Amino acid sequence: MGSTSLSPSISLSPSLSPHSSKFPNPSPNLFLRSHSSFTPLTLRSNQTRYRFKKLPSSNAPNFLVAASAKAEPLKVIISGAPASGKGTQCELITQKYGLVHIAAGDLLRAEVAAASENGKLAKEYMEKGELVPDEIVVMMVKERLLQPDSQQRGWLLDGYPRSSSQAAALEDYGIRPDVFILLDVSEDILVERVVGRRLDPLTGKIYHLKYSPPENDEIASRLTQRFDDTEEKVKLRLRTHHQNVDAVLSVYKDITVKVNGNEAKEHVFAQIDAALTHVGEQRKVNSGSVAA
Ligand code: AP5
Repeated sequence: MGSTSLSPSISLSPSLSPHSSKFPNPSPNLFLRSHSSFTPLTLRSNQTRYRFKKLPSSNAPNFLVAASAKAEPLKVIISGAPASGKGTQCELITQKYGLVHIAAGDLLRAEVAAASENGKLAKEYMEKGELVPDEIVVMMVKERLLQPDSQQRGWLLDGYPRSSSQAAALEDYGIRPDVFILLDVSEDILVERVVGRRLDPLTGKIYHLKYSPPENDEIASRLTQRFDDTEEKVKLRLRTHHQNVDAVLSVYKDITVKVNGNEAKEHVFAQIDAALTHVGEQRKVNSGSVAA
């Protein structure tokens, strides 16, 4: 059956009917169907309810819409200055919400480690605390966002967008989060967090010598430090952050949740958890009102 894709979750399907053998288990969340005399109707199929209604557009008077009550997976952007705790919070968020964590910095460091052409170029910028050019970052992030796991489980985008052009690229692709979390941390705390940060190359876990020390000597002996985690380099990274943050915030101001990131990580997570729970509840109400 041919269908015209509108977005990852919407498709046009001119021949589908509620009596079609495909109806009980449709995969897209929205169908349009040609019909001239159909009354708005709610149907139940397994766990999912479908409501049919006429499209208001005079261009498509004979089409009907069936919208699934099943909510789309959650899409979250987390933002904040260098070492504000984005990676630390992402670990806690993914544990609870099962979202796919996509960190622009991690994707770039993987390229650097692989010594690819993009990685070699990226490292020059990362060492100066500057933004890696869009030609490298934008496609890399977009491709990861469109992978099946991100589409099915939802995503948690960390450290992207960092400039107005990166935000515009996401908007152009029709990729918009449900919520934009901004971690707000004072500058003296940021420097202390950067200098004390250590990484476990085996598990990928983030530690801090003072705030989150390794569990035992074996782990402590294998911890590494990032090449850009010095006091000198974090000041350059902070300058880059300050130059760009307002432009990014202006794109997402209607969905921004500002979180006090100065507190202990469990308290920071409690604020984020409350915000995500609220977004989830609102989405349930919205999808319920479509299906009711
Ligand atoms: P990236 O890797 O994204 O670095 P960043 O933004 O500087 O952020 P960090 O990873 O340093 O910190 P974080 O906020 O994740 O903090 P963490 O949880 O680790 O980017 C690196 C470079 O790549 C950039 O400079 C740029 O060159 C390039 N790049 C990346 N994205 C790009 C893009 N979109 N476009 C172009 N270029 C791009 O925490 C830090 C430490 O604090 C840890 O030790 C942790 O244990 C501790 N800690 C965390 N939370 C708390 C807490 N609440 N209390 C006490 N300690 C805490």
